[in-house]
Amino acid sequence: MQHATDIETLISEQDLAARVRALGQEIARDYAGRDLVLVGVLKGSYVFCADLARAIDLPLAIEFLGLKSYGDSQTTSGVVQITSDLSRPVAGKDLLIVEDIVDTGLTMAYLRKNLATRGPRSIKLCALLHKPARARVDTSIDYLGFRIEDVFVVGYGLDWAERYRNLPFVGVVRQSGEP
Ligand code: IMP
Ligand code: MG
Repeated sequence: MQHATDIETLISEQDLAARVRALGQEIARDYAGRDLVLVGVLKGSYVFCADLARAIDLPLAIEFLGLKSYGDSQTTSGVVQITSDLSRPVAGKDLLIVEDIVDTGLTMAYLRKNLATRGPRSIKLCALLHKPARARVDTSIDYLGFRIEDVFVVGYGLDWAERYRNLPFVGVVRQSGEP
């Protein structure tokens, strides 16, 4: 496997699967009878979004939105850019943002504000990971997979300079060196 020796497992494939199943069941209970649209934030949440959608036993729609807040470095630029937008209007819909990780919270603050202007019935957030140590703005996470320490993680969709997204687990990468 690619550079597997540089990566230490933080959350195993089995633990991810169990947590995602539980989140899916909770979401299915809460959204029964509603007009649910999952809004996956690309690229990082593509794996989580695919697994979560299959764990929610309800009729739902899936939209994706491309956001970029990082260059190839491991620290935020603070600048959020929409790289691709939703394909349909979401007025009147119950939106559930599906995000890989909330770090400073700047990306989610921007996205919530942006989506609110489109007239949805509700907006909630489901994040796989949260690093509370680095929060710069308050982010209310309605459904959370795991709270983690202040370490840079990769795998299960998350990258370092576009690498490691395809690892089936979440791991910690060394802070120095090349991806
Ligand atoms: P925030 O705006 O600082 O909350 O940044 C959130 C975004 O930064 C996430 O959606 C990720 O794309 C990226 N990010 C933050 N921490 C990590 C990490 O540990 N590994 C990989 N990407 C991260
Ligand atoms: Mg992201």
